[in-house]
Amino acid sequence: MNTGMHDVTEAARQVTPHDPIEFMLAEHLNHRRMCKALERLAAMTEFDATPITAMVDYIRFDLTLHIIDEEEDFFPLLRTRCLQDDDIDAVLARLSTDHETDKALSAQVRDMLNACLILRKPPRVIDGAVEALMAFATNERRHLALENAVIIPIARRRFTAEDLKMLSRRLLARRRRLGGES
Ligand SMILES: [Fe+2]
Ligand SMILES: [Fe+2]
Repeated sequence: MNTGMHDVTEAARQVTPHDPIEFMLAEHLNHRRMCKALERLAAMTEFDATPITAMVDYIRFDLTLHIIDEEEDFFPLLRTRCLQDDDIDAVLARLSTDHETDKALSAQVRDMLNACLILRKPPRVIDGAVEALMAFATNERRHLALENAVIIPIARRRFTAEDLKMLSRRLLARRRRLGGES
Protein backbone atom coordinates (compact mmCIF):
# COMPACT_ATOMS: atom_id res chain seq x y z
CA MET A 1 0.00 0.00 0.00
CA ASN A 2 1.25 3.44 -0.85
CA THR A 3 0.00 6.47 0.92
CA GLY A 4 0.70 9.34 -1.41
CA MET A 5 3.81 10.47 0.43
CA HIS A 6 5.25 12.57 -2.40
CA ASP A 7 8.78 11.27 -2.97
CA VAL A 8 8.04 7.92 -1.45
CA THR A 9 5.59 7.09 -4.19
CA GLU A 10 7.13 9.15 -6.98
CA ALA A 11 9.31 6.92 -9.09
CA ALA A 12 9.07 4.18 -6.49
CA ARG A 13 10.05 0.88 -8.04
CA GLN A 14 6.93 -1.07 -8.77
CA VAL A 15 7.97 -4.46 -7.55
CA THR A 16 5.54 -6.90 -6.00
CA PRO A 17 6.23 -9.62 -3.42
CA HIS A 18 6.26 -12.17 -6.27
CA ASP A 19 10.04 -11.60 -6.21
CA PRO A 20 10.72 -11.27 -2.47
CA ILE A 21 14.35 -10.13 -2.57
CA GLU A 22 13.72 -7.48 -5.22
CA PHE A 23 10.65 -6.52 -3.24
CA MET A 24 12.71 -5.95 -0.08
CA LEU A 25 15.20 -3.85 -2.04
CA ALA A 26 12.36 -1.76 -3.46
CA GLU A 27 10.98 -1.28 0.04
CA HIS A 28 14.39 -0.16 1.25
CA LEU A 29 14.53 2.37 -1.56
CA ASN A 30 11.18 3.68 -0.37
CA HIS A 31 12.54 3.88 3.18
CA ARG A 32 15.41 6.01 1.91
CA ARG A 33 12.82 8.30 0.38
CA MET A 34 11.01 8.29 3.70
CA CYS A 35 14.23 9.55 5.35
CA LYS A 36 14.41 12.44 2.89
CA ALA A 37 10.74 13.19 3.56
CA LEU A 38 11.46 13.21 7.32
CA GLU A 39 14.17 15.83 6.71
CA ARG A 40 11.78 17.90 4.62
CA LEU A 41 9.22 17.78 7.44
CA ALA A 42 11.92 18.91 9.88
CA ALA A 43 12.65 21.90 7.61
CA MET A 44 8.97 22.75 6.88
CA THR A 45 8.22 26.42 7.51
CA GLU A 46 4.50 26.57 6.68
CA PHE A 47 2.05 23.98 7.98
CA ASP A 48 0.95 21.56 5.26
CA ALA A 49 -1.25 18.67 6.40
CA THR A 50 -0.74 16.48 3.30
CA PRO A 51 2.88 15.34 3.75
CA ILE A 52 2.40 15.11 7.52
CA THR A 53 -0.63 12.84 7.19
CA ALA A 54 1.13 10.79 4.50
CA MET A 55 4.10 10.22 6.81
CA VAL A 56 1.87 9.18 9.72
CA ASP A 57 0.11 6.67 7.44
CA TYR A 58 3.36 5.40 5.92
CA ILE A 59 4.86 4.69 9.33
CA ARG A 60 1.66 3.13 10.65
CA PHE A 61 1.14 0.81 7.69
CA ASP A 62 4.09 0.31 5.33
CA LEU A 63 6.94 0.47 7.79
CA THR A 64 5.17 -1.70 10.35
CA LEU A 65 4.41 -4.30 7.70
CA HIS A 66 8.03 -4.32 6.54
CA ILE A 67 9.34 -4.99 10.04
CA ILE A 68 6.82 -7.84 10.42
CA ASP A 69 7.97 -9.31 7.06
CA GLU A 70 11.56 -9.29 8.26
CA GLU A 71 10.98 -10.49 11.81
CA GLU A 72 8.42 -13.17 10.95
CA ASP A 73 9.74 -14.45 7.62
CA PHE A 74 13.11 -13.16 6.35
CA PHE A 75 15.17 -13.39 9.50
CA PRO A 76 13.92 -16.83 10.64
CA LEU A 77 14.58 -18.21 7.15
CA LEU A 78 18.07 -16.72 7.13
CA ARG A 79 18.76 -18.34 10.51
CA THR A 80 17.69 -21.67 9.07
CA ARG A 81 19.58 -21.42 5.80
CA CYS A 82 22.82 -19.74 6.77
CA LEU A 83 25.96 -21.69 7.50
CA GLN A 84 28.07 -21.32 10.63
CA ASP A 85 30.68 -19.42 8.60
CA ASP A 86 28.14 -16.82 7.54
CA ASP A 87 28.24 -15.51 11.11
CA ILE A 88 24.73 -14.19 10.73
CA ASP A 89 23.39 -14.43 14.30
CA ALA A 90 25.13 -11.32 15.62
CA VAL A 91 23.98 -9.25 12.62
CA LEU A 92 20.39 -10.45 12.94
CA ALA A 93 20.40 -9.69 16.67
CA ARG A 94 21.69 -6.19 15.92
CA LEU A 95 19.01 -5.67 13.24
CA SER A 96 16.25 -6.84 15.59
CA THR A 97 17.49 -4.37 18.21
CA ASP A 98 17.37 -1.69 15.50
CA HIS A 99 13.75 -2.65 14.83
CA GLU A 100 12.89 -2.07 18.49
CA THR A 101 14.62 1.31 18.36
CA ASP A 102 12.79 2.07 15.11
CA LYS A 103 9.45 1.32 16.71
CA ALA A 104 10.21 3.62 19.64
CA LEU A 105 11.53 6.44 17.43
CA SER A 106 8.71 6.15 14.91
CA ALA A 107 6.11 6.19 17.69
CA GLN A 108 7.69 9.43 18.91
CA VAL A 109 7.59 10.86 15.38
CA ARG A 110 3.94 9.92 15.00
CA ASP A 111 3.10 11.63 18.31
CA MET A 112 4.89 14.77 17.17
CA LEU A 113 3.24 14.76 13.75
CA ASN A 114 -0.19 14.18 15.29
CA ALA A 115 0.47 17.21 17.49
CA CYS A 116 1.28 19.20 14.31
CA LEU A 117 -2.01 18.10 12.76
CA ILE A 118 -4.01 19.04 15.86
CA LEU A 119 -2.33 22.43 16.28
CA ARG A 120 -1.97 23.01 12.50
CA LYS A 121 1.67 23.97 13.02
CA PRO A 122 4.87 22.79 11.30
CA PRO A 123 7.13 20.42 13.27
CA ARG A 124 9.74 23.09 14.00
CA VAL A 125 7.43 24.85 16.47
CA ILE A 126 6.63 21.65 18.40
CA ASP A 127 9.08 21.03 21.21
CA GLY A 128 11.35 18.06 20.36
CA ALA A 129 9.75 17.36 16.97
CA VAL A 130 12.75 18.22 14.76
CA GLU A 131 15.05 16.13 16.96
CA ALA A 132 12.62 13.19 16.81
CA LEU A 133 12.36 13.39 13.00
CA MET A 134 16.13 13.55 12.55
CA ALA A 135 16.84 10.76 15.05
CA PHE A 136 14.41 8.46 13.27
CA ALA A 137 15.93 9.25 9.85
CA THR A 138 19.47 8.64 11.12
CA ASN A 139 18.60 5.30 12.72
CA GLU A 140 16.67 4.16 9.68
CA ARG A 141 19.48 5.03 7.24
CA ARG A 142 22.04 3.13 9.28
CA HIS A 143 19.74 0.14 9.51
CA LEU A 144 19.01 0.12 5.77
CA ALA A 145 22.68 0.27 4.91
CA LEU A 146 23.40 -2.78 7.06
CA GLU A 147 20.49 -4.77 5.66
CA ASN A 148 21.40 -3.98 2.06
CA ALA A 149 25.10 -4.69 2.59
CA VAL A 150 24.77 -7.89 4.59
CA ILE A 151 21.31 -9.45 4.57
CA ILE A 152 20.35 -9.10 0.92
CA PRO A 153 23.56 -10.65 -0.52
CA ILE A 154 23.41 -13.58 1.93
CA ALA A 155 19.73 -14.15 1.16
CA ARG A 156 20.56 -14.25 -2.55
CA ARG A 157 23.23 -16.87 -1.93
CA ARG A 158 21.40 -19.06 0.56
CA PHE A 159 17.69 -18.99 -0.27
CA THR A 160 16.58 -21.77 -2.57
CA ALA A 161 14.02 -21.36 -5.35
CA GLU A 162 11.52 -23.10 -3.08
CA ASP A 163 12.35 -20.69 -0.22
CA LEU A 164 11.69 -17.72 -2.49
CA LYS A 165 8.34 -19.14 -3.55
CA MET A 166 7.37 -19.78 0.05
CA LEU A 167 8.46 -16.27 1.11
CA SER A 168 6.53 -14.77 -1.75
CA ARG A 169 3.40 -16.68 -0.74
CA ARG A 170 3.72 -15.49 2.84
CA LEU A 171 4.27 -11.84 1.93
CA LEU A 172 1.35 -11.91 -0.48
CA ALA A 173 -0.93 -13.62 2.05
CA ARG A 174 -0.06 -11.02 4.68
CA ARG A 175 -1.04 -8.26 2.29
CA ARG A 176 -4.22 -9.99 1.20
CA ARG A 177 -5.29 -10.28 4.82
CA LEU A 178 -4.90 -6.52 5.08
CA GLY A 179 -6.70 -5.88 1.81
CA GLY A 180 -3.55 -4.54 0.13
CA GLU A 181 -1.86 -5.29 -3.17
CA SER A 182 -1.41 -8.87 -4.29
FE1 LIG B 1 14.41 -3.77 5.90
FE1 LIG C 1 14.77 -3.99 8.99
